[in-house]
Amino acid sequence: AALQSALTKERREVSRQQQRAMLDSIPKDLNRPWEDPMPERGERHLAQELRGVGLSAHDLPEWKKDAYGKSVTFGQKSKLSIQEQRRSLPIYKLKNELVQAVIDNQVLVVIGETGSGKTTQVAQYLAEAGYTAKGKIGITQPRRVAATSVAKRVAEEFGCRLGEEVGYSIRFEDCTGPETVIKYMTDGMLLREILADENLSKYSVIMLDEAHERTVGTDVLFGLLKQLVGRRPELRLIVTSATLDAEKFSGYFFDCNIFTIPGRTFPVEIFYTKQPESDYLDASLITVLEIHLSEPEGDILLFLTGQEEIDYACQCLHDRMKGLGKNVPELIILPVYSALPSEMQSRIFEPAPPGKRKVVVATNIAEASLTIDGIFYVIDPGFAKQNVYNPKMGLDSLVITPISQASAKQRAGRAGRTGPGKCYRLYTESAFRSEMSPTSIPEIQRINLGPTALTMKAMGIHDLFSFDFMDPPSHEALVSAMGQLYSLGALDEEGYLTKLGSRMSEFPMDPPLSKMLIASVDLGCSDEVLTIIAMIQTKNIFYRPREKQTQADQKRSKFFQAEGDHLTLLAVYEAWRSKNFSIPWCYENFVQSRSLIRARDVRKQLLSIMDRYKLKVSSAGRNVTKIRKAIAAGFFFHAARKDPQEGYRTLADNQVVYIDPSSALFRRQPDWVIYNELVMTTKEYMRDVTAVDPMWLAELAPRFFRVADSKRISKRKRQERIEPLYDRYNEADSWRLSRRRA
Ligand code: CDP
Ligand code: MG
Repeated sequence: AALQSALTKERREVSRQQQRAMLDSIPKDLNRPWEDPMPERGERHLAQELRGVGLSAHDLPEWKKDAYGKSVTFGQKSKLSIQEQRRSLPIYKLKNELVQAVIDNQVLVVIGETGSGKTTQVAQYLAEAGYTAKGKIGITQPRRVAATSVAKRVAEEFGCRLGEEVGYSIRFEDCTGPETVIKYMTDGMLLREILADENLSKYSVIMLDEAHERTVGTDVLFGLLKQLVGRRPELRLIVTSATLDAEKFSGYFFDCNIFTIPGRTFPVEIFYTKQPESDYLDASLITVLEIHLSEPEGDILLFLTGQEEIDYACQCLHDRMKGLGKNVPELIILPVYSALPSEMQSRIFEPAPPGKRKVVVATNIAEASLTIDGIFYVIDPGFAKQNVYNPKMGLDSLVITPISQASAKQRAGRAGRTGPGKCYRLYTESAFRSEMSPTSIPEIQRINLGPTALTMKAMGIHDLFSFDFMDPPSHEALVSAMGQLYSLGALDEEGYLTKLGSRMSEFPMDPPLSKMLIASVDLGCSDEVLTIIAMIQTKNIFYRPREKQTQADQKRSKFFQAEGDHLTLLAVYEAWRSKNFSIPWCYENFVQSRSLIRARDVRKQLLSIMDRYKLKVSSAGRNVTKIRKAIAAGFFFHAARKDPQEGYRTLADNQVVYIDPSSALFRRQPDWVIYNELVMTTKEYMRDVTAVDPMWLAELAPRFFRVADSKRISKRKRQERIEPLYDRYNEADSWRLSRRRA
């Protein structure tokens, strides 16, 4: 046995060395996550699109072509019919009990292993039991992809087209119709519905699904629905969760009953590393190949943190598999992340063909929201991307953070659905026990509460401090959120919603963006600003394949506007519009057609809200100053001034930042700029930058900046002349304080 283990160790060492060498040969440019154009409707369609412009499918990286597949189905379809599949789910045996429990209990917590059928079946059972005759059944999901993919599946089971009886609603995309009775939606969308109808009178049942995710939307819904069940005795509320939080949820909801779906799980053997891994990505890839080469049949699930990382990992795996030669059995590599095209989503649920193995490389989404059958091996590097608020910058950013013990357990559980499985944790056992927190911190205690505070104020909840949160956010976080809203003019000095704030709350976006849009109405440039906002929201407009970077950069620079990136984005959209929204035009100009199409949809949605509230849509014509002023009116928090030494300094907290090299202003480096977001790669880079006149800041954001009194300030300051009105973040009660000073 000792010899055996020594041999295994040696093999591991050798294979690690070989693989490291291969890994080194692949350029690691995760810092510039330029997207490849992803075929939306299968390869054939893509091929047609590409041919029109003299490109071929060869321009796609090979692993991606493999992942998207030569045909839409690669394996044998499940042998069971869709109704048989439904009957084989653990929840099916408890159908009558569950329906009875919902009849008897106004609030019910339902717990059960992932894959037991909660998300897809409960609503259908209740529809059969007659609940849809009394109103709609609304099911919230923490993630957009979950909402759309589940709705698609349930429509299929229900036997209707998506958008008929079964539909979904996510931000900027409403796929429901007059017949829709089972509606999947993101929690943010249900919040918006409460804003319009506080009694949710169209609904007979609300199910807060995947409540253990504890998104800020779910947490606010908890408090609102807890009140609503008192007002509407006939309304049914179901809260589903992974086992861990059930007691806590029940306690919060008046000690309601807990309905348990017995799990069908197998033991999972857990392996830890002996030493901490310095490069979890590298270690993950090595583990995938080790499993593939030495373990019996069964699919692999690898958890990584985001799209760029996943694309990179898939590319490496593909290259390494190729490097291993023909004698190695095939490995089907499938990426999973939220920006996934729809036919890939169904792809991941298909079983691998007999004798073949698939590896699914997924974000946290596969932890609980998506169930993939046939997984026997889980690789857990122990990280996830989380939205974290940076109070100094006044914005949220996605940061790679260690997961909690609860998450790690949930991830391991994914290996034991079909049979006994194995979970490889790429961290030490002591790290698991002593460094990882038992449960994740709810989002509401981590992120910028500006948007949430605005929504709650618009719902008439004046006193946010005494709202019945399950886990309340900190006092400072709420004060800071209100400070932000006050500076934007959304709240008055007493903290009440202003007319402007009420307008802003109608738009499903961050307060600075809605402020920018409403300012543009007054400035007479809303036509352009609508486009700019749609483009900013969409992201990944430009396409920059590794092999054609110079060509792509050249094309991009043709759109550059002297005033900055916002106007450059506008120019791209206008050029596309003038070509009748042509797809080949996108390929010619290295612009992502998918993104532009989405931007057009977002624009349309925003336009319909503008119409509903009779907000005037007018064009600035040649007067682009108006547009720049509108941008400044929303984003004055993000102003920066050129530093004599190097780069820029932010006005709000004097942090050193730089203009992103892809910006239209990278060469020009104007004295004063406003940026849309900061992205930390090798440096802190400002993305989407526009040059501004500093006097606008004082004019447009009098509650945040003032023109300094030239007699009373130092010589250095005299040159700056614009200074923040107060330091919002370092003073305990800065919001109140600012009132007195202002
Ligand atoms: O919500 P819960 O985790 O309890 O289970 P579910 O999401 O309702 O999934 C039940 C079954 O439906 C899973 O075993 C999947 O095989 C299947 N499913 C699917 O095929 N396609 C989807 N988009 C979602 C679920
Ligand atoms: Mg579910």
